[in-house]
Amino acid sequence: MCGISGYIGKKEGLQIVLGNLRKLEYRGYDSAGVAFFNLGANAEIIKTVGKLDNLERALRGKRSLSATAAIGHTRWATHGAPNQVNAHPHSDCRGEIFLVHNGIIENYQDLKSELIGKKHRFRSQTDTEVLTHLVEEYGFEWALKKIVGAYAIALINKKEPQKLYIARLGSPLVVGVGEKEYYIASDPTALAGLVKKVIYLKDGQRGVLSLGGLEIGPARPKIEKLDIDPEQAQKGHFPHFMLKEIFEGPEVLRSALRGRLSADKGTVKLGGLEGVTDKLKNIKKLEILACGTSYYSGLAGELLFEELTNLPTEVMLASEYRYAKHPIKKGTAALLISQSGETADTLAALRKANHQKNLTLGIVNAVGSSIARETVAGVYNHAGPEIGVASTKAFLSQLGVLALMALYLSPKKTAAHREIMRELAILPEKIKMVLAQSGKIKQLAKKYLKYKNFLYLGRGYNYPTALEGALKIKEIAYVHAEGYAGGEMKHGPIALIDRDFPTVALATQNRVYEKMLSNLEEIKARSGPILAIATVGDKKIARLANDVFYVPKTVEVLEPILNIVPLQLFAYHFGTLCGYDVDKPRNLAKSVTVE
Ligand code: M6R
Repeated sequence: MCGISGYIGKKEGLQIVLGNLRKLEYRGYDSAGVAFFNLGANAEIIKTVGKLDNLERALRGKRSLSATAAIGHTRWATHGAPNQVNAHPHSDCRGEIFLVHNGIIENYQDLKSELIGKKHRFRSQTDTEVLTHLVEEYGFEWALKKIVGAYAIALINKKEPQKLYIARLGSPLVVGVGEKEYYIASDPTALAGLVKKVIYLKDGQRGVLSLGGLEIGPARPKIEKLDIDPEQAQKGHFPHFMLKEIFEGPEVLRSALRGRLSADKGTVKLGGLEGVTDKLKNIKKLEILACGTSYYSGLAGELLFEELTNLPTEVMLASEYRYAKHPIKKGTAALLISQSGETADTLAALRKANHQKNLTLGIVNAVGSSIARETVAGVYNHAGPEIGVASTKAFLSQLGVLALMALYLSPKKTAAHREIMRELAILPEKIKMVLAQSGKIKQLAKKYLKYKNFLYLGRGYNYPTALEGALKIKEIAYVHAEGYAGGEMKHGPIALIDRDFPTVALATQNRVYEKMLSNLEEIKARSGPILAIATVGDKKIARLANDVFYVPKTVEVLEPILNIVPLQLFAYHFGTLCGYDVDKPRNLAKSVTVE
């Protein structure tokens, strides 16, 4: 959600800022802008609505003055329509201060009234503009003291063109440390290939960057290694990031397991949890908190933990948990799942759990992110940057890590546990077999393209998969789809079934297979078209389903890892056949950093 880019150094700052805004495009935006000092040493601010191409056109022929700072922003509208006036950067009355902001200023109405009383003139409907006038009135430090809310801020000032002011509270901001130059970005992915060292600003940290060095406080900044391969943030030969990331599935799962799973020895090692081993032995209940796709992987995690460890587990939407009057018993641990590690609701849920003195654990993909830092212990996904707005590879790796965690926490390893370990180790090859049939799924997508509504049905481990499959097609192809548990069909959705309402049925051969067949009988009896995901070698299913996509057999607890892949591909092909930009679906942001 919104992207911040900035640079101070001797290079062509404007081009760097623009280049990095491109890398942040995937976060979702509807307008963009930059502020910089031009070759005549005048401050310029250029903003456009729509894609970055528009901004680049408006900037054609313009260059920034060396050794001065430049800032840029991609805006995803929250307060005020997505138009040029509301786009960032914003400036003060005198046009001297330029500022970009991610987050929300909660008390902006009060501050605005106060500033209007002091004769400040406002141009936009945004909460952000209040910041520029506050800085004009009180200076940077005091302005920060007056605001309530969340922010990542970058500011330049005509009076000090060689300085770049930054601050963070609740919204991510990273400083890339180069040789006598600094980059800033709201996401470290943008800095890959530009710097090797970064500072992940902590909440409450603020400071100023200049050619002479950096001054950040009050907490001392910690310089860390940036571990992102720039190639991972490129599409390569794939037409879309989403397809590339789906095809990364086998490697993503391998990375999640590498150095952790030893199927031969029957052991699982999770370095990130070693510091809390004793505490983990005593936990009585696990609460999984997450949003969106991460929540669905949490639902599969609940089944895994309860089956493999006997640990009572409850999954809650982080957005509900944060406001719920939820009794927390002693010995409860909270497990936060997040790809970005910055989702506002998940972060708020984590802070609530930390406040309640629960042991907090994380499964996070983005290294150095807020959730990774604020959990007591955790396991990284190691899936690499996920650029497509629709989460795909992160889901696979979350499921892989959840399986590892459940195995790690199981007090003794039975033959069943050992079989799961062996199967996990060979699962990447089975995912490859599914991916090899992407063409077949495209044909199916073509056939089903005429339908406007879908039911996604699954039971047991296939239920979270059904929910996630339905979410994918909603996000990418703007098709209405409902994920449902098979057993619930008779309690309502069966009323919808007719020849125009197809069901995508997850009907692999597991302990609820026969029950799923009964559901399919009921759908068939009402002329509902059925597209089934079934196990290779299944002889019964073709009699019931209009179309069948076969997946290799695996152990039931790992089925979501395999069965989601055809549904991701189905959504991808459906969306591209409709001509949509599947990497940047409308109205969605990659990282939802506001409530
Ligand atoms: O970064 P997170 O995993 O915390 O994000 C959670 C959701 O915002 C995310 O999964 C969202 O639902 C995606 N658009 C799913 O494709």
